[in-house]
Amino acid sequence: MLVTGSEILQDAHKNGYAVGAFNINNMEIIQAIIEAAEETKSPVILQASQGGIKYAGIEYISALAKVAAEKATVPVAVHLDHGTDFDQVVKCIRYGFTSVMVDASKYPLEENIAMTNKVIEIAHAVGVSVEAELGKIGGTEDHIKVDERDATMTNVDEAVRFVEETGVDSLAIAVGTAHGVYKGKPELDFDRIKAIKEKTNIPLVLHGSSGVAYEDLEKAVSLGINKINIDTDVRMAFADAIKDFLKDNMDEIDPRKILKPARANMSKVVAEKMRVFGSAGRA
Ligand code: G3H
Ligand code: 13P
Ligand code: ZN
Ligand code: NA
Repeated sequence: MLVTGSEILQDAHKNGYAVGAFNINNMEIIQAIIEAAEETKSPVILQASQGGIKYAGIEYISALAKVAAEKATVPVAVHLDHGTDFDQVVKCIRYGFTSVMVDASKYPLEENIAMTNKVIEIAHAVGVSVEAELGKIGGTEDHIKVDERDATMTNVDEAVRFVEETGVDSLAIAVGTAHGVYKGKPELDFDRIKAIKEKTNIPLVLHGSSGVAYEDLEKAVSLGINKINIDTDVRMAFADAIKDFLKDNMDEIDPRKILKPARANMSKVVAEKMRVFGSAGRA
């Protein structure tokens, strides 16, 4: 069933577990995620990035995600990932997304608060949930020196002020993770997660979660993370399965035969994550 982001994340926040938010770009990825959610009886968030929307077209991606959500027996939210453009955020609301992320994290605190509030005003008027980002969650390609790393992380006092001045539904925090494939081992700042949770008491979001050790993710969840974003690990499951299949079936031309093992492999990976995050059995 199609639900808002808050309906899913408030339950996770109250009961101390996290829900996976998986990036969607086409039908097979959506089907793989929903199949895993049904199998594990897990609530789930389907999220499209601005790039994903550009690739599929907003009409296609919103229609596919909504059909998938409405058909599912488990709660499903349809979410915009990293909305940096106000018009894009509004367009997603118009197309039926039940949750949006406004990412104004590259701006100074005041401007981030102002843009977040602008989105909240219109989103909440129509019952759509809002995630914002404070701190800078970069890519693994961003070269940041160890002593500069602290400056990119979410400041605890700023997080308190941000939540007080916006009333945002969930907050993405920078605590040592990065988007894409890690080169080394990510070092999470667990004390920071704990402090932000204690002082804000709202659902917290971890981006860049592909490639993070499961024990670290479990610890992050125990300290207050309620939404875990995964894109890269699903991409890898997709690509690995296709390469594997084509290696033995060089002459295959039927897209269905090529994509079927990829869909199954993505579903397997997603289901495994749902068990680790603690969302399995919550639907
Ligand atoms: O946050 C980044 C997500 O992995 C989406 O990536 O912008 O290439 O669709 P993308
Ligand atoms: P990964 O690249 O680690 O999967 O992160 C995805 C993400 O944070 C999407 O917003
Ligand atoms: Zn992200
Ligand atoms: Na990552």
